[in-house]
Amino acid sequence: MIFYFTGTGNSMQAAKSIGDYNGEKLVSIAKEMSSKNGSFEYKLEENEAIGFVFPTYAWGPPKMVIEFIEKLKLNNHKDNYVFSVATCGENIGNTMKVIDKHLINKGLKLNSGFSIRMPNNYIIMWNVDSKEVEKEKLLAAEETLKNINKVIKERRTGVFEVEKGTMPGVLTSVINPLFNKHAMDTKKFYADDKCNSCGICEKVCNSRTIKVNRKPEWGKECTQCLACIHLCPVKAIQYGKGTENKGRYKNPNVNVRDRFLTSDK
Ligand SMILES: Cc1cc2nc3c(=O)[nH]c(=O)nc-3n(C[C@H](O)[C@H](O)[C@H](O)COP(=O)(O)O)c2cc1C
Repeated sequence: MIFYFTGTGNSMQAAKSIGDYNGEKLVSIAKEMSSKNGSFEYKLEENEAIGFVFPTYAWGPPKMVIEFIEKLKLNNHKDNYVFSVATCGENIGNTMKVIDKHLINKGLKLNSGFSIRMPNNYIIMWNVDSKEVEKEKLLAAEETLKNINKVIKERRTGVFEVEKGTMPGVLTSVINPLFNKHAMDTKKFYADDKCNSCGICEKVCNSRTIKVNRKPEWGKECTQCLACIHLCPVKAIQYGKGTENKGRYKNPNVNVRDRFLTSDK
């Protein structure tokens, strides 16, 4: 069973590849978190793997992934194989340590962990990658996924193939908590005149905080996945003054409609 979270589709591509190769079912963390009656209880088959696949946010897992793990109740788990994959633009710091710490509270322990370098979507800080870099990263990611799939299929333990970057301790222990505390605000999001009220931003919002009444309106907080900005078909959604002249990205290997959190496709 693979629990995944995605903003622009990279982590969904990774989760799908692992799910297809290993015959594992996919569960959307955002869908589960937004379902009002979510019991967060899942029954595992014998020898079923347990996976967590998500993007890296400020050298840690998205806050929603941690909140989901805290609620998670797995029935029947004994010696099930546990792995995690963090997609990123460059590197993930000590993200795997953070995941492991929260899993230990649930009686689980990571057997393997991976990072996959994929196209960057953090346009609040940087820009999207050039088309050449995007292509190169997506090709390399497919190779990395082939290796990850083999490790998981063979249930190899103690395999941690991660790009931590320099000073991972500082990135994850200092910057990540600051990001989680101060960067969740939605005040700077707005839709400009290009908005045609299509409603896609509401359907892809992982935090279910956007409501479109003629134009999108944001609630107080979100996970900063930036799906609204990147998946808007007319590039109408902005964050402050910095995103107007920046590119947009969506993973070309997944369908935007598969990202919809509501069933009315
Ligand atoms: C809020 C935010 C923070 C990010 N922080 C990092 C980071 O610390 N390191 C990194 O390499 N990439 C970072 N990125 C880039 C994403 O992790 C990367 O593009 C990821 O593959 C996106 O996955 P998705 O398409 O499944 O949403 C960040 C992106 C966002 C939106």
